[in-house]
Amino acid sequence: MSLIRDLIHAGGTGGLNWHVHAHYSRERWQPTVQLIEQFFAQVDPKSDHLLLIGGSAGWMMPPSWLARFKRIDAYDIDPLAHWLFNWRHGRRLKAQGIQVEHHRLDALEVLPEILSTHAAACIWFDNVLGQHRYRVRDEARVERELAQLKTTLKGRHWGSLHDVWSGPTDGRLLPAGLNVWSHHVTAKQGLDAVFSQKLLASVGAKDVWQDHLTGHVFAPTTPTTWMPWAFKANYWHWLQAGWVSA
Ligand SMILES: C[S@@+](CC[C@H](N)C(=O)[O-])C[C@H]1O[C@@H](n2cnc3c(N)ncnc32)[C@H](O)[C@@H]1O
Repeated sequence: MSLIRDLIHAGGTGGLNWHVHAHYSRERWQPTVQLIEQFFAQVDPKSDHLLLIGGSAGWMMPPSWLARFKRIDAYDIDPLAHWLFNWRHGRRLKAQGIQVEHHRLDALEVLPEILSTHAAACIWFDNVLGQHRYRVRDEARVERELAQLKTTLKGRHWGSLHDVWSGPTDGRLLPAGLNVWSHHVTAKQGLDAVFSQKLLASVGAKDVWQDHLTGHVFAPTTPTTWMPWAFKANYWHWLQAGWVSA
């Protein structure tokens, strides 16, 4: 029973519903994938071993980032992630001699164990931290646990792409000239109310937007990149990406 529930929605953050939506949204998501690729181009991971947390099938994962590693350990709670990731990326990675190990587990729950098992690896949270609030329903606990991650990760090279807000929009499209859409600020500047209003207005936000409680994942001085994601034609997310060097 629990396996069937997980196949369909994997704790409310992945599963069959997510994969079907992702498959049919590939074209609309492509501009955001390009922004993610531009972000990765600036990162020096300082390790050839990647711990990929919440990578799912890698629907938005630029292959050029994966190709920078010799070994990837991928962690996801979704029973479909392993198969679909291999279907989308496996053949290319194998041809490049990159070794991939899949682990089906709650990586946030056992993060300290994962980190000590792979002491020299860098870590990438792949649009997973903004989902923590759907698995843990206590908002104060979610904020505390997400803010605590930077302490758990001290001394490591790590980064994250995550939802900060999401909500209904007036249905505009992402135009060409994508660079006008990404914003480079420190994590502290990203919390500024005027900055947030500017981002929301630029995507035609309306009604009530959801806060994903990820505002304190990064330390205030961490450089971050903000990018819009047209999750549905009239329901968008603002994503934040950052990389922390030990
Ligand atoms: C929005 S999807 C990520 C999509 C992925 N970045 C892509 O490009 O396809 C979030 C993923 O995180 C996984 N997930 C959520 N909480 C997790 C946890 N605590 N540990 C491991 N995986 C988790 C979900 O199963 C889902 O596959």
